[in-house]
Amino acid sequence: MKYAIFAVSILSFAHSYSWAADGAALVKQHNCAACHAMKGPSAATVEAVLKRKAPDLFYAGSKFNREWLVGWLQSPTVIRPAGTVYVNHVEIKDGKDTLIPPAGCPVKLAAPEAAAVADYLMTLKDPNMKSGVFTPAPVKAGKARLILTRDEACDACHRLPEKGGGVSCPTLEGAGARLNPDWMYSFIRDPHYWDPTAWMPKKTYDDERLRIMVNYLAAFR
Ligand code: HEC
Ligand code: HEC
Repeated sequence: MKYAIFAVSILSFAHSYSWAADGAALVKQHNCAACHAMKGPSAATVEAVLKRKAPDLFYAGSKFNREWLVGWLQSPTVIRPAGTVYVNHVEIKDGKDTLIPPAGCPVKLAAPEAAAVADYLMTLKDPNMKSGVFTPAPVKAGKARLILTRDEACDACHRLPEKGGGVSCPTLEGAGARLNPDWMYSFIRDPHYWDPTAWMPKKTYDDERLRIMVNYLAAFR
């Protein structure tokens, strides 16, 4: 009986042990902060943004889905075809804009390390963001697509699955796997709350329209 209790308490210890501490150590060891802001606030001036080497990670726990982080940290793909700061990656040649391919994120972690780093990143949350705002609902794809393209021209800046679109900003391909829908809802409603100088317009959408957009993006896997 004594042993059984001991075994149970060991198991519950193992279960509740946070790998986030190991993740924090790995983030230090790999010097992620050389490129990413691991502490807020976000850059507030154009000069500071031009020096930005990589996206802010200090609210990663609000922004990302954990499972996506675990996979991506093992083999990162290109999200921003024109780099973190678009203007740092274009050159005018013969009167035409030419893209200088960005280096991307150099990180390539082994699976257990990726899981620990993801656990740590998931602790970096914005305390003001409401969770549970997003309610999954089926949307008519045709209608949602027209909102994103014809009405709002999101594709002027962002690439959409099977549609193409702008390359100056993060691709929205795979947005549903990558991004927490509550965060998308908050970000699309007020991009400048998260990133004061983000080159994304703040518009006033009625709630239904915003939810259609988020539900549609959440289905991009
Ligand atoms: C040499 C600079 C550099 C270092 C060091 C670096 N990264 Fe990155 N990281 C980047 C760049 C550039 C991007 C943007 C890639 C893209 O959008 O295609 C990026 C993107 C990311 C993203 C996606 C962010 C988003 O908003 O899309 C995550 C997560 C990430 N890095 C995690 C890490 C972690 C964790 C470490 C340390 C273990 C790290 N990075 C170290 C340059 C770096
Ligand atoms: C003028 C260009 C522009 C337009 C138009 C635009 N965005 Fe953005 N968007 C941006 C920029 C810039 C960012 C942040 C860039 C970064 O994180 O590197 C962003 C980020 C996002 C993100 C977060 C993506 C991520 O991976 O970080 C989502 C989701 C998003 N936009 C959705 C939309 C939707 C939906 C629309 C249309 C209603 C839209 N955007 C219109 C420029 C634009």
